[in-house]
Amino acid sequence: MKKKNQRLAIGVRMAFGVMLVLANMDAANSQPQERALRAFEVVRSVLQHPRCQNCHIAGDSPFQDDKETPHEQFVVRGPTGRGAIANECSSCHQKTNLPAAYGEHAPPGSPGWRLPPPETKMIFNGVSARELCRTIKNRRATGGRDLASMLAHIRSNKQVAWGWAPGANRATPPVSRAETVSAFKTWMESGAPCPL
Ligand code: HEC
Ligand code: HEC
Repeated sequence: MKKKNQRLAIGVRMAFGVMLVLANMDAANSQPQERALRAFEVVRSVLQHPRCQNCHIAGDSPFQDDKETPHEQFVVRGPTGRGAIANECSSCHQKTNLPAAYGEHAPPGSPGWRLPPPETKMIFNGVSARELCRTIKNRRATGGRDLASMLAHIRSNKQVAWGWAPGANRATPPVSRAETVSAFKTWMESGAPCPL
């Protein structure tokens, strides 16, 4: 009887020990996971800022301000994202912002100003954080590009650079470009988890 109780006590202690080890492992795993999700939230706050999401839309008409107002002048995506024939983006948007003398509502500019093509719209606007995350991880949605290529795009693309120098009184994203790059890297290197 005594022996049996002793064995039971040892068994209970062992099971408890295993539970403690598992709980500790869980805590250790959830730290990088939380860090990655926090980093993704920084990336999300930029991608869904008007300076970025105004072109990354589900529909065919880009937004022209901070209130998701569809673009005036019947501007649409067109077959390649460069606008409809005879109403191309480049007929108004130049390679740089126009000088301040042109006023608050002059068309902003950067090289190759256009929307993503209709096959790979890369929608940032109007989606949940989880959907946004899944879009940028889905190579079919991004035209075959992986996260490393996206990081390079955020770091060195001129259209992205424009987001932080948009001209007139346009607001810029909530964190700097350097912080965005660093958050994207942290998220990517921690396995790029998506929020629930
Ligand atoms: C004037 C429209 C426009 C604006 C504004 C814009 N983008 Fe884009 N974005 C595009 C186009 C067009 C593409 C597709 C590029 C291509 O296919 O080569 C793209 C692609 C991307 C990609 C995917 C790149 C890849 O390698 O797959 C990312 C990430 C991105 N944009 C981030 C941003 C961020 C961040 C901002 C704001 C700072 C922004 N975009 C603002 C038009 C825009
Ligand atoms: C007829 C001239 C014209 C054409 C064509 C045109 N735009 Fe614009 N666009 C403008 C003007 C003007 C503004 C500035 C509006 C303002 O600030 O009130 C603007 C603003 C924008 C903005 C808002 C930028 C921001 O975040 O503040 C986006 C995005 C945009 N255009 C995308 C496009 C795209 C993409 C095309 C081609 C598919 C295009 N536009 C074609 C004149 C044009």
